[in-house]
Amino acid sequence: MKSKTKTIGILTAGGDCPGLNACIRGVAKAAMHYGIKVIGIQDGFRGLVENRTISLDSAAVSGLLTQGGTLLGTGRDKPHKIMMGGKSMDMTDVAVANMHRMNMDCLVCLGGNGTQKNALRLRESGDIPVLTLPKTIDNDVAQTDVSFGFDSAMAIATEAIDRLHTTATSHHRIIVCEVMGHDAGWLALGAGVAGGADVILIPEIPYDLAVVARHLSERRRNGKRFSIIAVAEGVRSKTEAQQSSAPASKKKSDKSEKQDKPAPPKESSEEELHLVQEPVASRIARKLQQLTGTEARVTSLGHVQRGGQPTAHDRLLSTRLGTRAGTLLAEGVYDVMVAIQGGEAVAVPLASVAGIKKLVPRDHTWIETARLVETCLGDDL
Ligand code: F6P
Repeated sequence: MKSKTKTIGILTAGGDCPGLNACIRGVAKAAMHYGIKVIGIQDGFRGLVENRTISLDSAAVSGLLTQGGTLLGTGRDKPHKIMMGGKSMDMTDVAVANMHRMNMDCLVCLGGNGTQKNALRLRESGDIPVLTLPKTIDNDVAQTDVSFGFDSAMAIATEAIDRLHTTATSHHRIIVCEVMGHDAGWLALGAGVAGGADVILIPEIPYDLAVVARHLSERRRNGKRFSIIAVAEGVRSKTEAQQSSAPASKKKSDKSEKQDKPAPPKESSEEELHLVQEPVASRIARKLQQLTGTEARVTSLGHVQRGGQPTAHDRLLSTRLGTRAGTLLAEGVYDVMVAIQGGEAVAVPLASVAGIKKLVPRDHTWIETARLVETCLGDDL
């Protein structure tokens, strides 16, 4: 096939995750197969604005498949709002001019929700097409069944929950394990079910600690003297959810994402102010210790979940998505995200992805599964 695309730029943006290097390799190798020149842009959109590039020839992408992180570097900068000399600047024109100067036919962006929006915005303000790939441990990119990085992070969080089990059992403790995921509960729910957490709290189901405490006490009555609680970082209580869905606060929290999590409610008393500053898992552990009389501890997994080598699943997924991107570029298909739908790697219009968060639906099979193995999800059901 004679390629319709001659030169592409490729960048990684947002938080890193396992599978980025495998995906870069997949895009670059497939692109080279079709005779497309590949320019690597360093440190996300900032590198595009600052014109920092490397050549991604076959030597450069060799040996990348199993490596964590991203050889290109990444960042959370947006071309239209980027800190330059201590000021926030709109550098969209500079980014577009740099793409023209490099004779780029298309800019390939590997990223999560923020990157999908930034890529579309860049596309709409210049005449350079874009193509994106769904990367995030949060698994919250719309239109794709799964994003790469998620499986690796879920494996790490699951192993952590496994390890917490043995120490919680030995000390007869409650251990609250905080898992990343931004406003979505995919990671906590997936790792929680896989690791056999006794309670799983996710942002999509506002929790009631009285319900959780009842569940823990019931376990104790049944001879289970420990409990593991997987908590997504974005969780909120029933009260917080009710307060933030009230009209005044709803307006305040109405940002550009279509399924944005409402902002936390305004607290007033000193005790409440203190609670707002306390990390969510610590607050939950402290209250559960009070309610149950069982000693509680907290483990926050943090960036450990984004580090290290990708799982076999993520290597395969990243390579499939990346190589499909290469073929689409050769065919001249632009302004799409390469997604996984029903097991197939397909192109979906970027406009149908950007600005939409894929949260866990209340009727999702993982939720039903969790309930059927007697996992408490913090609600009354
Ligand atoms: O989006 C990926 C993610 O790891 C989220 O789960 C988390 O909320 C956030 O990034 C952390 O971002 P940073 O690396 O900038 O601290």
